Amino acid sequence: MSRMIDRKRLAAWARACALTTGLLWAVCAGAQEPVAPPGAEALRNPEWIEAGRVRFVKTCAYCHGYEGDAGKHVPFREHLDWDPAQIHDVITNGRRRGANVMPAWQGAISDDEVWRITAYILSLGGKPRASQ
Ligand code: HEC
Repeated sequence: MSRMIDRKRLAAWARACALTTGLLWAVCAGAQEPVAPPGAEALRNPEWIEAGRVRFVKTCAYCHGYEGDAGKHVPFREHLDWDPAQIHDVITNGRRRGANVMPAWQGAISDDEVWRITAYILSLGGKPRASQ
C-alpha cells in the first residue's frame, strides 16, 4: 500500500517538474523573441490613438503634460520623424539622464498598450499647440 502512495507521489512530482520546465521554456523563448512593431497603418488607427491618449493622460501627463509639452526634453510635437520602435523602447525600458528619470514601464503596462501610447505620441508630431 505504501509503495502505491510513493508511486503516486512520484508521478505527481514528475508532472509538476514537467510543467515547471515547460513553463520556463515558454517564458525564456518568449523573452528572446523580438518585439514586432505594428505596421504604420495600425499606429494611425484613431481607436489606438484614443486608447493611448486616455492612458497617457492617466499615467504620463503628470510629468509630460497632456500633450507631451512639459518635462525636460523636446516637446513630443516637435519630433517629426520619430521611430515608433524608439518610443516603445523608452517607455518599456525607461531612461536616465542625470537627475532626469523616465521610469521603465515594463510589467506595469502591457506591450499592446505601450504601442497604443506610442500611436498617441506619434499623432502629436507636427500638431499645433491647442493653447499656451
Ligand atoms: C516621473 C516622471 C515621468 C513619468 C511619470 C513619465 N515620464 Fe517619460 N520621461 C521623463 C523624463 C525625465 C524624460 C527625459 C529623460 C531623458 O532626459 O533622457 C522622459 C522621456 C520620455 C520620452 C522620450 C522623449 C524624448 O524626447 O526622447 C518618452 C517617449 C516618454 N518619456 C514617454 C512617457 C510615457 C508614455 C509615460 C507614461 C507611460 C511617461 N513617459 C511617464 C519623465 C517621466
